[in-house]
Amino acid sequence: MNTSAAWARLEPKLAYFRNRVAQLEYEPARKNSFVAYTAERDSAYADQDGQRLLMMSGYSYLGLAGDERVVSAAKAAVDRYGTGNHGVRALAGSTPLHEELEAEVAKFAGREQAIVFGSGYAANTGVIGGLVGPGDTVFIDKYDHASIVDGCKLSGASVVRFRHNDVAHLERRLASTPDTGVRLVIVDSVYSMDGDIAPLVELRKVCDAHNALLMVDEAHALGVIGATGRGIEEHFDYEVKVDVKVGTLSKGIPSMGGWVAGPAELIHHLKYASRPFLFSAALGPAQAAAALESLRILQREPWRVEFIQRESERFRGLLHAAGISTVDSETAVVPVIAGSDDAAYDFATLSRKHGVIGLPVVTPAVPNDLARLRIAITARHTEADIDFAADAFIKAARETGII
Ligand SMILES: Cc1ncc(COP(=O)(O)O)c(C=O)c1O
Repeated sequence: MNTSAAWARLEPKLAYFRNRVAQLEYEPARKNSFVAYTAERDSAYADQDGQRLLMMSGYSYLGLAGDERVVSAAKAAVDRYGTGNHGVRALAGSTPLHEELEAEVAKFAGREQAIVFGSGYAANTGVIGGLVGPGDTVFIDKYDHASIVDGCKLSGASVVRFRHNDVAHLERRLASTPDTGVRLVIVDSVYSMDGDIAPLVELRKVCDAHNALLMVDEAHALGVIGATGRGIEEHFDYEVKVDVKVGTLSKGIPSMGGWVAGPAELIHHLKYASRPFLFSAALGPAQAAAALESLRILQREPWRVEFIQRESERFRGLLHAAGISTVDSETAVVPVIAGSDDAAYDFATLSRKHGVIGLPVVTPAVPNDLARLRIAITARHTEADIDFAADAFIKAARETGII
């Protein structure tokens, strides 16, 4: 076969996104994906093509992305260690910074030990592949993040899906699946598109009744839920405990990387059994230092968590009073519902005209007629920013005919 014949087989795959993106972005004003923003370091504003806009769709929840202390820590790490880590953690890639970061994550998560990966995606695929394989079964919520889905596929374990946040459905699934091998239930603590929270206490009971381990992905929970931002266990007043906690260092914590926290034995096992840990380069020094400093600031400045929780609630209240739905959101992730995909694109365009960036999320990422602007409230916003954004969204919703 010659090269062009080989490429021809790829053509249907290339055509799918070529056509879909062309369809969605037929007007330049509707372009929302891959737009380059220049974020202002000391505010929630961003610059796009010379226009200063309030960014309402970034998920740097703790507002620390431009923080002087975090920036200085990253610079000092580069001065001390350079820009790369010379390899994977098991060979030349470990620095004292990685060890300090892992100790800080473990302490923050309330676990014996933690392990840090190059991304949240790698952490999820790494922990799942390290825990389950052929002969084992993973039970996942229908809305679990793609990295969990991919981790399950790569692991070779059987995968069983249950309806979103539906514990009774999970229980039926557990009861009707052979009770053999490792059984692992995985949920997101906070769902990234809807901003709702997993029903942890009920999940724990069902897992215990059916010999299943419980793993949570705290990506959108760290710094966001629980009185001091410690995530889903704290949110439910430590009534129950999970077996495996996973998170990212790319959202509330403004860096890159992912982590897993748990008993020392589990973390030791992952250091040798987790392929993305063993076969992918260590987190860079600047990233490790930025994550470590942010985690320390989060613990010293609980006002950030309080602000996010209070202002998210107030923002939802302003939208609800105008008749806009935010479905089941109860966290800093607030889906502002538009309806059809077209309505969401128009809503985004008009919001931008009113000075606010709210990025649309459309099918198939969300169900039909639930296309939305995915909004995130951060500690970088001010109360005035929240009022300004709510006002802009309400005006745009009226102009689009959403309300
Ligand atoms: C719930 C959840 N888990 C994991 C990830 C992956 O994290 P990262 O972007 O750090 O690889 C994301 C990122 O969007 C996420 O939303």
